[in-house]
Amino acid sequence: MFREFRIGNGKIIQGDCLEVLKTLSENEIVLAFTSPPYLNAINYDEHIEKINGKKERWERKDISYDEYKQFLVDRFRELLRVVRPGGFNVVNISPVLWNGERTPLPFHFVSWMEEIGWKFKEDIIWEKTVARDRRSGVLLQHPFPGYYYPSLVAEYVFVFQKPAEKNKDNIYWFRTSKEKEKNRIDLSDYQGEKSKNVWKIRPVAPQENIHPCPFPVELADRVIQLYSYKNDIVIDIFAGSGQTNLAAERARRKHIGIEIQIEYIDYAVERINAELAQQTLCQYAR
Ligand SMILES: C[S@@+](CC[C@H](N)C(=O)[O-])C[C@H]1O[C@@H](n2cnc3c(N)ncnc32)[C@H](O)[C@@H]1O
Repeated sequence: MFREFRIGNGKIIQGDCLEVLKTLSENEIVLAFTSPPYLNAINYDEHIEKINGKKERWERKDISYDEYKQFLVDRFRELLRVVRPGGFNVVNISPVLWNGERTPLPFHFVSWMEEIGWKFKEDIIWEKTVARDRRSGVLLQHPFPGYYYPSLVAEYVFVFQKPAEKNKDNIYWFRTSKEKEKNRIDLSDYQGEKSKNVWKIRPVAPQENIHPCPFPVELADRVIQLYSYKNDIVIDIFAGSGQTNLAAERARRKHIGIEIQIEYIDYAVERINAELAQQTLCQYAR
């Protein structure tokens, strides 16, 4: 019913994630990581027309905040069904401009997630080490109280968990010692900056990816290392250019991406397959 594109240990499925999620079994997924579309800010249909040379620029889409809330709530509720008890749902999200006003979407989002049954666990700040936002310039021009607009150099990474019955069905409590040993985290890497809830990671430069708003593979990489074991299934319900699929493939996880736009899927599949082919070539060359 849905077109599927296989890549290494995983796949990307084309479709609306709400409909695709309905076809997945209950408790199938261990970890979800995604960044949702800002439907008012980016019209992805028009962005695709731009990359196909049919349009100069894309416009904003007309959608109310309530409609947008419903869009997210429907999809994250269905996600809750397919994630295993104790499994994590990690979401990269940031405040957005809605009708010209800076809207605290991340804070509303946390309460929407709690309402549908996700348990809030962590708030991590992703500090974009080379962000280009210049809002703070306003204060330089008007050095008076009331003109403070800090440059926006951070986004949120929220961690939610599917509630589990104590000592009964939390998957993380039932890993064998052998499995744990095989997935031991290298602590030399996690004692400095990574041990804190401010992660400093360089954002993706526009020329590095055709997608208008990819997150860095390193962000997906950290989330996957910290919240899943090898061979677990990791899902990204708004997969875009496949950064989660790529990080999961590198980390030997199984992975499912869901994305509505075929152009982004083609790009993701081509890129990940090229990396896999390169690895195979390297193996033969050794
Ligand atoms: C913020 S972007 C994700 C970018 C991705 N994290 C990456 O690194 O490339 C959101 C994506 O959701 C996709 N999208 C929008 N509505 C969707 C839906 N109903 N189902 C699945 N994907 C959808 C958009 O096409 C867009 O690629």
